[in-house]
Amino acid sequence: MSEHDDTSKTLGPNTQLVRAGHDPFAYHGFVNPPVVHASTVLFPDAATMEKHGQPYTYATRGTPTSDALCNAINELEGSAGTILVPSGLAAVTIAFLAYLSPGDHALVVDSVYGNVRHFCDSMLARFGVEVDYYDPSIGAGIEAHFKANTRLVHTESPGSNSFEVQDIKAIAEVAHRHGAIVTMDNTWATPLYFKPLDFGVDVSIQASTKYPAGHADILMGTISANAKHWKRLKQANGALGICGAPEDAYQVLRGLRTMGVRLDRHQASALEIATWLEGRSDVARVLYPALPSFPGHDIWKRDFKGASGVFSFVLAVADGQDFKRKAQAFLDGLSLFGLGYSWGGFTSLALEVDLSDRRILSALKEGPVIRLQIGFEDVADLKADLETGFERARQA
Ligand SMILES: Cc1ncc(COP(=O)(O)O)c(C=O)c1O
Repeated sequence: MSEHDDTSKTLGPNTQLVRAGHDPFAYHGFVNPPVVHASTVLFPDAATMEKHGQPYTYATRGTPTSDALCNAINELEGSAGTILVPSGLAAVTIAFLAYLSPGDHALVVDSVYGNVRHFCDSMLARFGVEVDYYDPSIGAGIEAHFKANTRLVHTESPGSNSFEVQDIKAIAEVAHRHGAIVTMDNTWATPLYFKPLDFGVDVSIQASTKYPAGHADILMGTISANAKHWKRLKQANGALGICGAPEDAYQVLRGLRTMGVRLDRHQASALEIATWLEGRSDVARVLYPALPSFPGHDIWKRDFKGASGVFSFVLAVADGQDFKRKAQAFLDGLSLFGLGYSWGGFTSLALEVDLSDRRILSALKEGPVIRLQIGFEDVADLKADLETGFERARQA
Protein backbone atom coordinates (compact mmCIF):
# COMPACT_ATOMS: atom_id res chain seq x y z
CA MET A 1 0.00 0.00 0.00
CA SER A 2 1.50 3.31 -0.95
CA GLU A 3 0.56 6.92 -1.39
CA HIS A 4 1.86 9.12 -4.13
CA ASP A 5 3.08 12.65 -3.61
CA ASP A 6 4.73 13.57 -6.92
CA THR A 7 2.20 14.09 -9.69
CA SER A 8 4.44 15.99 -12.14
CA LYS A 9 4.97 13.84 -15.21
CA THR A 10 7.21 15.06 -17.96
CA LEU A 11 9.05 11.86 -18.86
CA GLY A 12 8.13 9.63 -21.79
CA PRO A 13 6.29 6.38 -21.02
CA ASN A 14 9.26 4.07 -21.51
CA THR A 15 11.54 6.30 -19.44
CA GLN A 16 8.90 6.25 -16.74
CA LEU A 17 8.69 2.46 -16.88
CA VAL A 18 12.45 2.14 -16.46
CA ARG A 19 12.68 4.50 -13.50
CA ALA A 20 9.33 4.32 -11.72
CA GLY A 21 8.99 3.36 -8.10
CA HIS A 22 12.48 2.71 -6.84
CA ASP A 23 15.41 4.96 -6.04
CA PRO A 24 18.54 2.76 -6.15
CA PHE A 25 20.37 5.10 -3.76
CA ALA A 26 17.72 4.51 -1.14
CA TYR A 27 19.14 0.97 -1.06
CA HIS A 28 22.95 1.02 -1.43
CA GLY A 29 22.79 1.74 -5.19
CA PHE A 30 21.33 -1.63 -6.18
CA VAL A 31 19.28 -1.19 -9.33
CA ASN A 32 16.39 -3.34 -8.08
CA PRO A 33 14.67 -3.10 -4.69
CA PRO A 34 15.13 -5.81 -2.05
CA VAL A 35 12.55 -8.60 -1.74
CA VAL A 36 11.51 -8.08 1.87
CA HIS A 37 9.96 -11.21 3.40
CA ALA A 38 8.17 -10.03 6.50
CA SER A 39 5.35 -10.13 8.95
CA THR A 40 6.83 -8.46 12.06
CA VAL A 41 8.54 -5.08 11.94
CA LEU A 42 10.44 -4.08 15.09
CA PHE A 43 10.15 -0.68 16.79
CA PRO A 44 13.16 0.80 18.59
CA ASP A 45 11.16 1.75 21.72
CA ALA A 46 7.67 1.76 23.24
CA ALA A 47 6.97 5.42 22.43
CA THR A 48 7.65 4.87 18.71
CA MET A 49 5.48 1.75 18.82
CA GLU A 50 2.67 3.64 20.59
CA LYS A 51 2.43 6.28 17.87
CA HIS A 52 3.41 4.02 14.94
CA GLY A 53 6.16 6.55 14.40
CA GLN A 54 8.06 4.88 11.57
CA PRO A 55 7.42 4.17 7.90
CA TYR A 56 6.69 0.44 8.33
CA THR A 57 4.67 -1.12 11.17
CA TYR A 58 3.49 -4.53 9.98
CA ALA A 59 3.90 -6.22 6.62
CA THR A 60 0.17 -6.29 5.72
CA ARG A 61 0.48 -2.47 5.70
CA GLY A 62 3.34 -2.37 3.21
CA THR A 63 7.02 -3.22 2.83
CA PRO A 64 9.84 -1.62 0.82
CA THR A 65 9.12 -4.18 -1.94
CA SER A 66 5.38 -3.57 -2.14
CA ASP A 67 5.97 0.19 -1.90
CA ALA A 68 8.42 0.09 -4.82
CA LEU A 69 5.73 -1.49 -7.00
CA CYS A 70 2.88 0.70 -5.68
CA ASN A 71 4.95 3.84 -6.23
CA ALA A 72 5.69 2.74 -9.78
CA ILE A 73 2.00 2.10 -10.47
CA ASN A 74 1.08 5.48 -8.96
CA GLU A 75 3.52 7.20 -11.29
CA LEU A 76 2.07 5.39 -14.31
CA GLU A 77 -1.58 5.83 -13.33
CA GLY A 78 -1.27 9.35 -11.89
CA SER A 79 -3.07 7.99 -8.82
CA ALA A 80 -2.91 9.11 -5.19
CA GLY A 81 -2.47 5.59 -3.84
CA THR A 82 -2.32 1.95 -4.94
CA ILE A 83 -2.92 -1.35 -3.18
CA LEU A 84 -1.69 -4.78 -4.21
CA VAL A 85 -3.99 -7.79 -4.15
CA PRO A 86 -3.41 -11.45 -5.04
CA SER A 87 -5.12 -11.52 -8.47
CA GLY A 88 -6.76 -9.35 -11.11
CA LEU A 89 -10.16 -10.72 -10.17
CA ALA A 90 -9.55 -9.75 -6.53
CA ALA A 91 -8.64 -6.24 -7.70
CA VAL A 92 -12.15 -5.79 -9.09
CA THR A 93 -14.02 -7.53 -6.26
CA ILE A 94 -12.11 -5.68 -3.53
CA ALA A 95 -12.75 -2.34 -5.23
CA PHE A 96 -16.48 -3.19 -5.20
CA LEU A 97 -16.30 -4.19 -1.52
CA ALA A 98 -14.48 -0.96 -0.71
CA TYR A 99 -17.06 1.35 -2.24
CA LEU A 100 -20.41 -0.48 -2.10
CA SER A 101 -22.77 -1.06 0.85
CA PRO A 102 -26.02 -3.00 1.31
CA GLY A 103 -28.88 -1.17 -0.40
CA ASP A 104 -26.62 0.35 -3.07
CA HIS A 105 -27.12 -0.03 -6.79
CA ALA A 106 -24.21 -0.52 -9.21
CA LEU A 107 -24.06 -0.25 -12.99
CA VAL A 108 -21.68 -2.77 -14.55
CA VAL A 109 -20.81 -2.95 -18.25
CA ASP A 110 -22.33 -6.00 -19.95
CA SER A 111 -18.98 -6.89 -21.57
CA VAL A 112 -17.34 -7.21 -18.14
CA TYR A 113 -14.81 -9.98 -17.40
CA GLY A 114 -17.03 -13.02 -16.75
CA ASN A 115 -15.84 -13.81 -13.24
CA VAL A 116 -16.74 -10.28 -12.14
CA ARG A 117 -20.28 -10.88 -13.35
CA HIS A 118 -20.32 -14.04 -11.25
CA PHE A 119 -19.19 -12.06 -8.19
CA CYS A 120 -21.95 -9.49 -8.78
CA ASP A 121 -24.67 -12.09 -9.27
CA SER A 122 -23.61 -14.20 -6.28
CA MET A 123 -21.78 -12.38 -3.46
CA LEU A 124 -22.85 -8.79 -4.17
CA ALA A 125 -26.47 -9.97 -4.47
CA ARG A 126 -26.09 -11.81 -1.12
CA PHE A 127 -24.76 -8.62 0.48
CA GLY A 128 -27.80 -6.68 -0.75
CA VAL A 129 -26.17 -4.78 -3.60
CA GLU A 130 -28.28 -4.58 -6.74
CA VAL A 131 -26.47 -4.69 -10.11
CA ASP A 132 -27.73 -3.75 -13.56
CA TYR A 133 -25.72 -4.41 -16.71
CA TYR A 134 -25.51 -1.71 -19.36
CA ASP A 135 -24.65 -1.71 -23.05
CA PRO A 136 -20.92 -0.96 -23.58
CA SER A 137 -21.77 1.43 -26.43
CA ILE A 138 -24.11 3.50 -24.24
CA GLY A 139 -21.91 6.58 -23.61
CA ALA A 140 -23.83 9.47 -22.00
CA GLY A 141 -27.04 7.47 -22.46
CA ILE A 142 -26.12 5.69 -19.24
CA GLU A 143 -27.99 8.50 -17.49
CA ALA A 144 -31.27 6.65 -18.10
CA HIS A 145 -30.07 3.76 -15.92
CA PHE A 146 -29.31 5.81 -12.82
CA LYS A 147 -31.37 5.34 -9.69
CA ALA A 148 -31.36 7.36 -6.48
CA ASN A 149 -29.09 4.70 -4.90
CA THR A 150 -26.62 4.22 -7.79
CA ARG A 151 -23.19 4.48 -6.15
CA LEU A 152 -20.79 2.87 -8.59
CA VAL A 153 -20.31 2.54 -12.34
CA HIS A 154 -17.90 -0.16 -13.45
CA THR A 155 -16.29 0.10 -16.87
CA GLU A 156 -13.99 -2.19 -18.81
CA SER A 157 -12.75 -1.01 -22.18
CA PRO A 158 -12.31 -2.75 -24.51
CA GLY A 159 -14.77 -5.33 -23.15
CA SER A 160 -13.69 -8.87 -22.37
CA ASN A 161 -13.68 -11.18 -25.41
CA SER A 162 -15.86 -8.97 -27.65
CA PHE A 163 -13.69 -5.80 -27.31
CA GLU A 164 -16.37 -3.07 -27.38
CA VAL A 165 -14.79 0.33 -26.71
CA GLN A 166 -16.52 2.56 -24.15
CA ASP A 167 -16.79 6.34 -24.11
CA ILE A 168 -15.28 6.56 -20.64
CA LYS A 169 -15.24 10.33 -20.40
CA ALA A 170 -18.95 10.66 -21.24
CA ILE A 171 -19.86 7.93 -18.75
CA ALA A 172 -17.71 9.43 -15.98
CA GLU A 173 -19.28 12.85 -16.44
CA VAL A 174 -22.78 11.44 -15.96
CA ALA A 175 -21.71 9.26 -13.02
CA HIS A 176 -20.11 12.17 -11.19
CA ARG A 177 -23.18 14.32 -11.72
CA HIS A 178 -25.11 11.59 -9.89
CA GLY A 179 -22.51 11.27 -7.14
CA ALA A 180 -21.36 7.80 -8.25
CA ILE A 181 -17.77 6.55 -8.28
CA VAL A 182 -16.30 5.24 -11.55
CA THR A 183 -14.10 2.15 -11.55
CA MET A 184 -12.33 0.78 -14.62
CA ASP A 185 -10.67 -2.52 -15.44
CA ASN A 186 -7.88 -1.25 -17.69
CA THR A 187 -6.01 -4.54 -18.02
CA TRP A 188 -6.13 -4.67 -21.84
CA ALA A 189 -4.55 -1.27 -22.47
CA THR A 190 -2.40 -0.85 -19.32
CA PRO A 191 -1.74 2.76 -18.29
CA LEU A 192 0.72 2.94 -21.18
CA TYR A 193 -2.02 2.90 -23.80
CA PHE A 194 -4.89 4.42 -21.78
CA LYS A 195 -4.79 6.46 -18.59
CA PRO A 196 -8.14 6.00 -16.85
CA LEU A 197 -7.74 8.85 -14.35
CA ASP A 198 -7.20 11.35 -17.19
CA PHE A 199 -10.66 10.40 -18.51
CA GLY A 200 -12.53 10.87 -15.23
CA VAL A 201 -12.17 7.38 -13.78
CA ASP A 202 -11.76 7.43 -9.97
CA VAL A 203 -10.33 3.96 -9.44
CA SER A 204 -8.15 2.20 -12.01
CA ILE A 205 -7.77 -1.56 -11.83
CA GLN A 206 -5.19 -3.78 -13.50
CA ALA A 207 -4.68 -7.51 -13.55
CA SER A 208 -0.89 -7.32 -13.23
CA THR A 209 -1.04 -11.04 -14.02
CA LYS A 210 -1.18 -10.04 -17.71
CA TYR A 211 1.14 -7.43 -19.28
CA PRO A 212 2.91 -6.07 -16.17
CA ALA A 213 4.09 -9.56 -15.07
CA GLY A 214 4.29 -10.63 -18.71
CA HIS A 215 5.54 -14.20 -18.33
CA ALA A 216 2.47 -16.28 -17.41
CA ASP A 217 3.94 -17.08 -14.01
CA ILE A 218 2.47 -14.53 -11.57
CA LEU A 219 -0.99 -13.69 -10.24
CA MET A 220 -1.47 -10.16 -8.91
CA GLY A 221 -3.78 -7.17 -9.18
CA THR A 222 -3.45 -3.46 -8.48
CA ILE A 223 -6.14 -0.97 -7.46
CA SER A 224 -5.21 2.71 -7.82
CA ALA A 225 -7.41 5.54 -6.59
CA ASN A 226 -7.46 9.29 -7.14
CA ALA A 227 -7.06 11.61 -4.14
CA LYS A 228 -10.78 11.77 -3.40
CA HIS A 229 -11.23 8.01 -3.14
CA TRP A 230 -7.85 6.82 -1.85
CA LYS A 231 -8.68 6.99 1.86
CA ARG A 232 -11.58 4.57 1.57
CA LEU A 233 -9.54 2.12 -0.51
CA LYS A 234 -6.72 2.22 2.02
CA GLN A 235 -9.19 1.58 4.84
CA ALA A 236 -10.69 -1.38 2.99
CA ASN A 237 -7.21 -2.79 2.41
CA GLY A 238 -6.43 -2.52 6.12
CA ALA A 239 -9.80 -3.95 7.17
CA LEU A 240 -9.65 -6.94 4.80
CA GLY A 241 -5.96 -7.78 5.35
CA ILE A 242 -5.53 -8.66 1.70
CA CYS A 243 -2.08 -7.89 0.34
CA GLY A 244 0.37 -8.95 -2.37
CA ALA A 245 3.24 -11.38 -1.74
CA PRO A 246 6.81 -9.98 -1.88
CA GLU A 247 8.23 -12.28 -4.59
CA ASP A 248 5.22 -11.54 -6.80
CA ALA A 249 5.49 -7.79 -6.23
CA TYR A 250 9.17 -7.97 -7.16
CA GLN A 251 8.43 -9.92 -10.34
CA VAL A 252 5.70 -7.51 -11.41
CA LEU A 253 8.02 -4.53 -10.89
CA ARG A 254 10.68 -6.36 -12.90
CA GLY A 255 8.10 -6.98 -15.62
CA LEU A 256 7.14 -3.31 -15.75
CA ARG A 257 10.67 -2.37 -16.84
CA THR A 258 10.18 -4.17 -20.16
CA MET A 259 6.43 -3.75 -20.56
CA GLY A 260 6.74 -0.94 -23.11
CA VAL A 261 8.91 -2.91 -25.53
CA ARG A 262 6.82 -6.02 -25.01
CA LEU A 263 3.58 -4.16 -25.72
CA ASP A 264 5.07 -2.68 -28.90
CA ARG A 265 5.80 -6.18 -30.14
CA HIS A 266 2.39 -7.58 -29.06
CA GLN A 267 0.73 -4.69 -30.87
CA ALA A 268 2.70 -4.95 -34.12
CA SER A 269 2.21 -8.73 -34.41
CA ALA A 270 -1.47 -8.59 -33.39
CA LEU A 271 -2.24 -5.89 -35.94
CA GLU A 272 -0.51 -7.83 -38.71
CA ILE A 273 -2.37 -11.03 -37.87
CA ALA A 274 -5.74 -9.28 -37.34
CA THR A 275 -5.42 -7.57 -40.75
CA TRP A 276 -4.50 -10.86 -42.40
CA LEU A 277 -7.47 -12.60 -40.76
CA GLU A 278 -9.81 -9.88 -41.91
CA GLY A 279 -8.97 -10.62 -45.54
CA ARG A 280 -9.83 -14.32 -45.29
CA SER A 281 -13.07 -15.92 -46.46
CA ASP A 282 -13.08 -18.35 -43.51
CA VAL A 283 -13.29 -15.40 -41.08
CA ALA A 284 -16.66 -13.63 -40.69
CA ARG A 285 -15.18 -10.68 -38.83
CA VAL A 286 -12.36 -9.57 -36.57
CA LEU A 287 -12.97 -7.87 -33.24
CA TYR A 288 -9.93 -5.67 -32.65
CA PRO A 289 -10.25 -1.94 -31.81
CA ALA A 290 -7.13 -1.06 -33.86
CA LEU A 291 -8.84 -2.15 -37.11
CA PRO A 292 -10.64 0.72 -38.90
CA SER A 293 -13.52 -1.68 -39.67
CA PHE A 294 -14.24 -2.26 -35.96
CA PRO A 295 -17.29 -0.32 -34.68
CA GLY A 296 -15.43 1.15 -31.67
CA HIS A 297 -12.37 2.15 -33.71
CA ASP A 298 -13.06 5.91 -33.69
CA ILE A 299 -13.31 6.12 -29.89
CA TRP A 300 -10.25 3.88 -29.56
CA LYS A 301 -8.31 6.18 -31.91
CA ARG A 302 -9.45 9.28 -30.05
CA ASP A 303 -8.66 8.01 -26.53
CA PHE A 304 -6.02 5.25 -26.67
CA LYS A 305 -2.31 5.44 -27.41
CA GLY A 306 -2.09 1.86 -28.63
CA ALA A 307 -3.64 -1.59 -28.84
CA SER A 308 -2.39 -4.64 -27.02
CA GLY A 309 -2.14 -8.18 -28.34
CA VAL A 310 -5.49 -9.80 -27.50
CA PHE A 311 -8.43 -9.85 -29.89
CA SER A 312 -11.16 -12.14 -31.18
CA PHE A 313 -12.51 -13.20 -34.53
CA VAL A 314 -15.65 -14.95 -35.69
CA LEU A 315 -15.13 -18.13 -37.69
CA ALA A 316 -17.28 -18.19 -40.81
CA VAL A 317 -19.76 -21.05 -40.70
CA ALA A 318 -21.96 -22.34 -43.53
CA ASP A 319 -25.69 -22.81 -42.95
CA GLY A 320 -26.42 -25.79 -40.71
CA GLN A 321 -22.79 -26.32 -39.63
CA ASP A 322 -22.14 -27.14 -35.98
CA PHE A 323 -20.38 -24.17 -34.28
CA LYS A 324 -18.79 -26.27 -31.55
CA ARG A 325 -17.36 -28.88 -33.91
CA LYS A 326 -15.95 -26.19 -36.18
CA ALA A 327 -14.37 -24.27 -33.30
CA GLN A 328 -12.85 -27.37 -31.74
CA ALA A 329 -11.47 -28.57 -35.07
CA PHE A 330 -9.84 -25.16 -35.56
CA LEU A 331 -8.33 -25.13 -32.05
CA ASP A 332 -7.13 -28.73 -32.30
CA GLY A 333 -5.33 -27.84 -35.52
CA LEU A 334 -3.09 -25.35 -33.69
CA SER A 335 0.25 -26.25 -32.22
CA LEU A 336 2.11 -22.97 -31.61
CA PHE A 337 -0.98 -21.37 -30.07
CA GLY A 338 -1.52 -23.00 -26.70
CA LEU A 339 -5.07 -23.65 -25.51
CA GLY A 340 -5.25 -21.80 -22.22
CA TYR A 341 -6.76 -18.95 -20.24
CA SER A 342 -5.27 -15.57 -19.46
CA TRP A 343 -2.97 -13.49 -21.67
CA GLY A 344 -0.11 -11.01 -21.55
CA GLY A 345 2.64 -13.66 -21.51
CA PHE A 346 5.24 -14.39 -24.17
CA THR A 347 3.45 -17.34 -25.74
CA SER A 348 0.47 -17.21 -28.09
CA LEU A 349 -2.84 -18.59 -26.85
CA ALA A 350 -6.24 -19.42 -28.31
CA LEU A 351 -9.65 -20.36 -26.96
CA GLU A 352 -13.30 -20.37 -27.91
CA VAL A 353 -15.15 -17.55 -26.21
CA ASP A 354 -18.46 -18.13 -24.46
CA LEU A 355 -20.69 -15.06 -24.75
CA SER A 356 -23.83 -16.81 -23.51
CA ASP A 357 -23.87 -14.90 -20.20
CA ARG A 358 -24.24 -11.55 -21.99
CA ARG A 359 -27.57 -9.87 -21.34
CA ILE A 360 -27.43 -7.29 -24.13
CA LEU A 361 -25.23 -8.63 -26.90
CA SER A 362 -27.27 -9.79 -29.86
CA ALA A 363 -24.65 -9.64 -32.62
CA LEU A 364 -21.82 -12.15 -33.01
CA LYS A 365 -24.19 -15.03 -33.45
CA GLU A 366 -22.95 -15.79 -36.96
CA GLY A 367 -20.26 -18.24 -35.88
CA PRO A 368 -18.01 -19.36 -33.03
CA VAL A 369 -15.89 -16.58 -31.52
CA ILE A 370 -12.20 -17.40 -31.11
CA ARG A 371 -9.95 -15.25 -28.91
CA LEU A 372 -6.24 -15.01 -29.67
CA GLN A 373 -3.41 -13.71 -27.53
CA ILE A 374 -0.53 -12.92 -29.83
CA GLY A 375 2.82 -13.67 -28.20
CA PHE A 376 6.40 -13.15 -29.34
CA GLU A 377 6.73 -15.98 -31.86
CA ASP A 378 7.48 -14.95 -35.45
CA VAL A 379 4.35 -13.76 -37.24
CA ALA A 380 5.00 -16.02 -40.24
CA ASP A 381 5.03 -19.07 -37.95
CA LEU A 382 1.84 -17.96 -36.23
CA LYS A 383 0.08 -17.44 -39.56
CA ALA A 384 1.17 -20.91 -40.71
CA ASP A 385 -0.20 -22.35 -37.46
CA LEU A 386 -3.54 -20.57 -37.91
CA GLU A 387 -3.63 -21.78 -41.52
CA THR A 388 -3.47 -25.36 -40.21
CA GLY A 389 -6.35 -24.56 -37.84
CA PHE A 390 -8.47 -23.20 -40.71
CA GLU A 391 -7.71 -26.28 -42.80
CA ARG A 392 -8.89 -28.54 -39.94
CA ALA A 393 -12.00 -26.40 -39.49
CA ARG A 394 -12.78 -26.70 -43.22
CA GLN A 395 -12.65 -30.49 -42.95
CA ALA A 396 -14.88 -30.58 -39.85
C1 LIG B 1 -10.01 -8.00 -18.27
C2 LIG B 1 -9.60 -8.91 -17.16
N1 LIG B 1 -9.64 -8.45 -15.91
C3 LIG B 1 -9.28 -9.22 -14.87
C4 LIG B 1 -8.87 -10.51 -15.06
C5 LIG B 1 -8.51 -11.35 -13.87
O1 LIG B 1 -7.15 -11.46 -13.69
P1 LIG B 1 -6.55 -12.67 -12.86
O2 LIG B 1 -6.41 -13.80 -13.80
O3 LIG B 1 -5.27 -12.15 -12.34
O4 LIG B 1 -7.52 -12.94 -11.74
C6 LIG B 1 -8.82 -11.04 -16.34
C7 LIG B 1 -8.36 -12.43 -16.56
O5 LIG B 1 -8.38 -12.97 -17.64
C8 LIG B 1 -9.20 -10.22 -17.42
O6 LIG B 1 -9.19 -10.69 -18.68
